[in-house]
Amino acid sequence: EHTQVAIVGGGPAGLMLSHLLQRSGIDSIVIDIRSRAEIEQTHRAGILERDSVRLLVDTGVSDRVLRDGYEHHGIELGFGGGGYRIDFNELIGASVQLYPQTDVFIDLADARARDGGDVRFGVSEVSVADVTTDHPAMLFTDADGVAREVRAQILVGTDGSRSICRKEVPESERRQYFREYPFAWFGILCEAPPSAPELIYSHSDDGFALISQRTDTLQRMYFQCDPTEDVDAWSDERIWEQLQRRVNANGYALKEGPITSKTVLPFRSFVQEPMRYANMVLAGDAAHTVPPTGAKGLNLALADVRVLAECLERHLRQGDTAALDDYVTRALGRVWKAQHFSYWMTTMLHRLPEASDFDVRRQIGELTSIVSSTAGSTYLAEGYTGWPQ
Ligand code: DHB
Repeated sequence: EHTQVAIVGGGPAGLMLSHLLQRSGIDSIVIDIRSRAEIEQTHRAGILERDSVRLLVDTGVSDRVLRDGYEHHGIELGFGGGGYRIDFNELIGASVQLYPQTDVFIDLADARARDGGDVRFGVSEVSVADVTTDHPAMLFTDADGVAREVRAQILVGTDGSRSICRKEVPESERRQYFREYPFAWFGILCEAPPSAPELIYSHSDDGFALISQRTDTLQRMYFQCDPTEDVDAWSDERIWEQLQRRVNANGYALKEGPITSKTVLPFRSFVQEPMRYANMVLAGDAAHTVPPTGAKGLNLALADVRVLAECLERHLRQGDTAALDDYVTRALGRVWKAQHFSYWMTTMLHRLPEASDFDVRRQIGELTSIVSSTAGSTYLAEGYTGWPQ
């Protein structure tokens, strides 16, 4: 089989790219080893930047993000015994949308089905070949057990943090940048009403806690834990005790309810450069991972494919040989800003296992600087709501 763009990975990045390409009259085929149901059940972050919302609405994916999502004009920062609000609207006239990544995926998968997009979930034995030629290929066994080969002009790896496409780039042609963190997040979903109008990011002597939301009756919360933490060792009672303690310290109180999901989320910063190798390009988590604080992962993936769709159009329709390198330069500029923002939010709010009293007081000083300075608050607001393209 032939197509113009072969896309390995049918998460939000791959599906959005396929959607945008079709709008430019470019054919693509998307494959994913997971079933649609499996992807829909993967809990991820829930905050969309302003431009991510616009991309979904303005390109005709769906306006459900506006109807079913909740607009948030700010966040709460808790530290040093008090709570402080960062008002995005007042500072920069921007907001974010609380809308879970699983719903973004559902909207994109529905839009691809509606528009006749070629998306094949549940394939197996995926490999890629000939990426240095003008006919790169993805090879796989389809859901019916038939071996397939799809040839394209360009192959795109949107296959997530355990990308196989990324590994196609020879070591001599790539650079990998890592940072590990000595903590993780314990994430829960619970059946309770929201505890506050907006999200609470809370620094405390017992570690960080984030109080997020899903709906009027379902909430998402996280607390800093050891990366090796065993979720089965945590009863509901023990979880509530930790969460309450970490927010009560700053004057907040949580409304409790039955906990319906418990998971430990890894923390890592990672970038592979360049995001292109011959006729293969990488986008989203396949090229970079951010720690979850600040919810940049999905937003960064959507920003990547927005630029990539435009550059692929220039490459394929106008024969612009500089277009793919242009993608790499533009995408990486944003990637490193988001890497810094996620690292900064993470290190400002979490307690390091070996933290000294100096380290903790310095963090309080940093948080105080942010909330007491318009320049500091504005920097946070710009990063959180998303920099313009
Ligand atoms: C959520 C996750 C985040 O990492 C964050 O910074 C904000 C919200 C969430 O899952 O709702």
